[in-house]
Amino acid sequence: MSPAGLAAECGLYEPAVRAWCRAAFALRVIEHNGGLYRVPNSTRRLLVSEDSNDYIGGQFSYLALRSLDFGAFDELFKKGRVARGAATHLAEASGEATKWDHTAFVRLVLPRFPRLGSLLARGARVLDLGCGAGGWDLRIAQRFPKSSFVGIDPDRRAVARARGTATELRLGARVRFAQGRGESLAYREAFDVVYLGEVLYALSAKRKVLSNCRRALRAGGFLVVAEGLLEAQTNSRNPTNQLLSAMNLEYTLQGAGFLSKHELRELLQEGGLRGSQFFHAGGGLWFVVSRK
Ligand SMILES: C[S@@+](CC[C@H](N)C(=O)[O-])C[C@H]1O[C@@H](n2cnc3c(N)ncnc32)[C@H](O)[C@@H]1O
Repeated sequence: MSPAGLAAECGLYEPAVRAWCRAAFALRVIEHNGGLYRVPNSTRRLLVSEDSNDYIGGQFSYLALRSLDFGAFDELFKKGRVARGAATHLAEASGEATKWDHTAFVRLVLPRFPRLGSLLARGARVLDLGCGAGGWDLRIAQRFPKSSFVGIDPDRRAVARARGTATELRLGARVRFAQGRGESLAYREAFDVVYLGEVLYALSAKRKVLSNCRRALRAGGFLVVAEGLLEAQTNSRNPTNQLLSAMNLEYTLQGAGFLSKHELRELLQEGGLRGSQFFHAGGGLWFVVSRK
């Protein structure tokens, strides 16, 4: 499209769209021919097609959104503290980055763990701890209409957003969201599946939360953990490590950091979760499926 056409189609301010197109062309993100710009197919898969297995656009959005909070690095480096308000854009940024986790769960994890898929298809009780704005529940609930979902997160605004979207999607009472923390989870044998999507890295009481998750599961239930895990060779410059290291620097603003595969395996073993199977979905994102 021409910048004018694009601006009209999207209802945007044309001079800004024109400047954006020039910059994106100069940076080789889009192509230019006869006054028209286009996104090449390979780039479209990577940056625009949210449902593609290759989509990594959310990672860029995550870092771009979090960079709005980077003023806090000054204090962190000088005083070893994180300033108030350093997480202003965290919830929105996480929502962008984890879209791909949810695609990977559907496209890569379910085919690999068919018992988990058939349990969800028959109708399972599912707890999503640290659900954020509910992206995983909302997507999985539409795919598995016989299952029920409880999403819990300490972030009041994220929970309100999740509830709003569930209402818009008319998912009814089988998808519920509540404010709460993993540390005070009081469920006992109430769920067939517990999902922990990129939550463990942010917790200081990891053992306590894992033990609460185990107690919330019925015997034989599934715990599914999604986490970015550091590579054993952390000084390498391969593309996965470039992505992980950039994210890990940003995680210091959250007072957190990536776990290693070894650390996560030990945590799960100590927590009484058995048969943990690790599966690398790509880009440093791992899924670990364990049983109670
Ligand atoms: C990276 S986001 C992941 C959101 C969601 N699981 C997903 O896959 O889209 C991490 C979430 O963990 C939540 N969280 C942080 N501390 C928590 C705690 N103590 N208990 C439960 N959730 C927590 C945050 O509020 C945030 O929504």
